[in-house]
Amino acid sequence: MRVAKDSYEIDDDKSRLNMDMIHAFVVESYWAAGIPRTTLERSIAGSDCFGVYHNTQQVGFARIMGDRATFAYVADVFVLPNHRGKGLARWLMETILLQPQYKGLRRWLLATRDAHGLYAKLGFTPVDGARFMEIRDAAVYTQA
Ligand SMILES: CC(C)(COP(=O)(O)OP(=O)(O)OC[C@H]1O[C@@H](n2cnc3c(N)ncnc32)[C@H](O)[C@@H]1OP(=O)(O)O)[C@@H](O)C(=O)NCCC(=O)NCCS
Repeated sequence: MRVAKDSYEIDDDKSRLNMDMIHAFVVESYWAAGIPRTTLERSIAGSDCFGVYHNTQQVGFARIMGDRATFAYVADVFVLPNHRGKGLARWLMETILLQPQYKGLRRWLLATRDAHGLYAKLGFTPVDGARFMEIRDAAVYTQA
């Protein structure tokens, strides 16, 4: 799929992704600090990926994991600083939510430290924490 608005484009073609830029951003992010490039590449290989492009330069990203039938998990959503505040993350997420392979999903899930406002506008609500359990290794990318 490919959609365009003004000088921006959203594309799910993985061959267009700028792996250097994505890794440079995600390795410094609060949620995956220190992630090895090979791990990021494996995560991209195993996910649906959506790039945001400005005149062919990639400026945004989101990655979706799931079974394309019942459940999807949203990860690694970002827009580069120079392009923020223009509605790109909202457009990206709206576009993803409308993709035919996700029609009829029972649950979308994501974790965010401070972007709840972005997702709330798209219909996401806080989860019932008592129902969810996890195994989490917060140091997996940083310990020797
Ligand atoms: C969060 C991020 C993706 C938003 O990108 P953006 O393109 O600037 O966002 P948009 O312009 O589409 O904003 C859409 C709406 O969400 C709101 N919003 C954006 N970022 C927000 C945040 N961090 N907290 C609360 N609301 C936010 C905006 O106010 C806007 O509301 P409006 O439609 O009423 O004006 C971007 O700031 C970013 O990359 N941050 C660093 C990485 C990050 O934190 N990613 C999210 C991980 S879950």
